[in-house]
Amino acid sequence: MAEELSGRVAVVTGGAAGLGRATVERLLEDGARVVIADLDRESGESLATDYGPDVRFRQTDVAVAEQVQDLVGFAVKEFGGLHLMVNNAGISGAMHQTLLDEDFADFQRILSVNLFGVMTGTQTAARHMAVNGGGSIVNISSIGGVQAGPGVLSYRASKSAVIHFTKCVALDLAEYGIRVNCVAPGGIPTGLLASATAAEEVTRRIRAHMAAVQPLKRQGTARDVAEAVAYLGGDRSLHVTGTVLTVDGGTTAGLKPMRPASAS
Ligand SMILES: NC(=O)c1ccc[n+]([C@@H]2O[C@H](COP(=O)([O-])OP(=O)(O)OC[C@H]3O[C@@H](n4cnc5c(N)ncnc54)[C@H](O)[C@@H]3O)[C@@H](O)[C@H]2O)c1
Repeated sequence: MAEELSGRVAVVTGGAAGLGRATVERLLEDGARVVIADLDRESGESLATDYGPDVRFRQTDVAVAEQVQDLVGFAVKEFGGLHLMVNNAGISGAMHQTLLDEDFADFQRILSVNLFGVMTGTQTAARHMAVNGGGSIVNISSIGGVQAGPGVLSYRASKSAVIHFTKCVALDLAEYGIRVNCVAPGGIPTGLLASATAAEEVTRRIRAHMAAVQPLKRQGTARDVAEAVAYLGGDRSLHVTGTVLTVDGGTTAGLKPMRPASAS
């Protein structure tokens, strides 16, 4: 469907890099006008200049409710409405700590960005959409929120909470024509993974994961995630709400079948 989002306005938090940036590009291809909201002023302003008149940048810390409220007001003022809110901004934590070592120094910040940022982004967008004909909200979780595993405990807990929050508010907001869904990506090389572990380890870890665990033997890309957001953001998903779309090469689908040991 060409130009599926023509006439629509989207906000993408964390849109200045990684998965958010790929999402901005994908939504522009579908004809949307997009506000990039990010802490990173330099990258955000530069992207808005490069992308042209259908893009604006608003410096925003999603952990601060007033800034998120201001962001939604900015989108409405600049482009006349808000139809798609992508709550993508997120941060990770130290990869190698186990519970016994964990001092939870990162806990407050991670929860503030990854969970509170999503909650306040959803609420603020929904308050506008509820009295303006509805809309779509897409929250970026992670397979770390679907499946338990070692390390980044606060991150995993925050992403799991995003899924449950999304389902609860999908029920709450359906009567207003507002759909709320999650995308849960698997490991994709971006700055976020580099912040969770040593940068040089990222590619090695993803390759090892692909070889050992991931059913589809290809490396996921930011574009793969952006495609899922575009689907949930537009009219092809009009009957879809409260769901989690994993984009993980099949990693969380289940265990691989046991092969019988070959007879010697
Ligand atoms: N990359 C992966 O493998 C992966 C996997 C699963 C889920 N995710 C999720 O996808 C989302 C995007 O991750 P990414 O890999 O693109 O990360 P990234 O670090 O490449 O980009 C994140 C962007 O968010 C911005 N940001 C950070 N804190 C912010 C805040 N408080 N307010 C506004 N902007 C802020 C950063 O400046 C940056 O531009 C996150 O929610 C992340 O948890 C990523």
